[in-house]
Amino acid sequence: MAESITITDNRTGDSIEIPIVNGGVSAAEWTKLLPGLWFFDAGLVSTAMCESAITYLDGEAGILRYRGYPIEQLAEKSSYLEVAYLLIHGELPTTEQYESWKHEITYHTFIHENVRKRFLEGFHYDAHPMGMLVSAVAALSTFYLDAKDIFNPESRYKQIIRLIAKMPTLAGAAHRFSVGMPFVYPDNSLDFTANFLSMMWKVAEPRFEANPVLAKALDVLFILHADHEQNCSTTAMRVVGSSHADPYSACAAASAALYGPRHGGANEAVIRMLTEIGSIENVPAFIESVKAGHGRLQGFGHRVYKSYDPRAKIIKRTADEVFEVTGKNPLLDIALKLEDIALSDEYFVSRRLYPNVDFYSGLIYQAMGFPMEMFPVLFAIPRTSGWLAHWQELLDQDSKIVRPRQLYVGAEPRDYVAMAAR
Ligand SMILES: CC(C)(COP(=O)(O)OP(=O)(O)OC[C@H]1O[C@@H](n2cnc3c(N)ncnc32)[C@H](O)[C@@H]1OP(=O)(O)O)[C@@H](O)C(=O)NCCC(=O)NCCS
Repeated sequence: MAESITITDNRTGDSIEIPIVNGGVSAAEWTKLLPGLWFFDAGLVSTAMCESAITYLDGEAGILRYRGYPIEQLAEKSSYLEVAYLLIHGELPTTEQYESWKHEITYHTFIHENVRKRFLEGFHYDAHPMGMLVSAVAALSTFYLDAKDIFNPESRYKQIIRLIAKMPTLAGAAHRFSVGMPFVYPDNSLDFTANFLSMMWKVAEPRFEANPVLAKALDVLFILHADHEQNCSTTAMRVVGSSHADPYSACAAASAALYGPRHGGANEAVIRMLTEIGSIENVPAFIESVKAGHGRLQGFGHRVYKSYDPRAKIIKRTADEVFEVTGKNPLLDIALKLEDIALSDEYFVSRRLYPNVDFYSGLIYQAMGFPMEMFPVLFAIPRTSGWLAHWQELLDQDSKIVRPRQLYVGAEPRDYVAMAAR
C-alpha cells in the first residue's frame, strides 16, 4: 500500500498526492492545492510544530531516548551534566570535552550580587520560590546584554553555560529567601547536584557534605526531567525563541509554563491526594470514587504514554534507595496500594492509565526535605538544558516565527454605540 494520502478538492476536482513521512503529512504540500485552508487543532494535539533530533518518545511502547540513547542507560550510567552536554551538543563528550564543560558550568554558578541583593530580596517575605525563579531568570537578560546576539556562536554558547550553571543558584536563593534563611554562595569544589544541595541546606558548617545516595538520586531525577520533546514549556521556549528574543526571556517563558499545575505541579497534586486519602484502608473507597467520576487519580495517565511511563519505573527504584537513607515516606504504602489496585482494575486497564513520572517523584522530594513549593523549581533546573537544546536547534533551523491561525467565533460586524446609548 502506498505511504501517501490523496486529497481532492471537490469544488474543482483537483487532487494532490501527499507522502506520509514519519507518520505525518507536510502542511506545505497540501497548502499547494488548498492555499489559505487550515486545520482546527486546539492544543496542537495533531500538529507537529517542528522537526527535532533531540528526544525520541514512543508513548505506545513506553520508550524515551535522548539523542538516541535509552533513558534507562543514561539514568544508570550517566550524570546530569553529561546528559546536559549530550542534549546541547548531540553527542556524548570525550573525557577532555566533559572536563572542559564541567569546568565552564562550575565557574558560572555565581550570580551577580545585584540579582540577589536588589532583585531577589525585593520580593515579599512569603513569595513562592517558583514565582521568584521565573522572574529572576527573566531579570538575567538585563545583566547579560550580549545575550541578544543570538546568532553569534560564542555568545550563544556563553548564555547556555550561564543558564544551566545559574539555575541551581537561583533555585537555592529563592528557597532560602522564602524560608528566611541567608543565601548560600556556590561551592565550586562540589559537583553540580551536591552544590545545589549545599545551597539548599547549608547552615553553619564550613562545608556542606550531601549524603552521596541522596545526591545521586537527585542527579538521576535531573536526568529523567532533562527533556521530554514538545511538552508545554518546551513549546513555550520555541514560541518565544522563534521571535528571536534572548534566551533568558525565552527560558523565563518556559519556566512560567512549567509553573502551571497541569505541567510542573502534578507531583504536588499527588502528595495532596495521598495525604487526603490518609491511610491504606481508605484506598479502595478512593478508587471507587474516582471511577464514579469524582476527581482523577493524580499521577496516573499521560497524554502520550499509553503504557508504563519508562521514567516512572526508574523513579520507583530510586525511591527505594532514598527511603533507605531518609526512612520511608509514610505516604508510600498508600501509593503502592493505589498502584496495585489501579493496575489490576478494568477501569484503569481499559483506559491504559499507568503511573507517570509524577506519581513517585513528589514522594522522593518530600522525603529529602524539599517543601512542595520547590517541586516545580526542581523540575526547572534540569529542564533548562532541554529548553536550551531546543532553542539552539530552532535557531539553527532558521525556523519561522510561530504564528498559528485561529477560528474566529466572535461577533458579526457592528457599529460603535455611544456609551450613553448602551
Ligand atoms: C495526564 C492527563 C491530563 C492526560 O489526559 P488525556 O490524554 O487528555 O486523557 P483524557 O482526559 O482524554 O482521559 C481519557 C479517559 O481516561 C480517564 N482518565 C484519564 N486520566 C485519569 C486519571 N488520572 N484518573 C482517572 N481517570 C482518568 C478519563 O476520565 C477518560 O475517561 P472516559 O473515556 O471514560 O471519559 C490525565 O491522564 C490526567 O489528568 N492525569 C492526572 C494528572 C497527572 O498525573 N498529570 C501529570 C501528567 S505527567
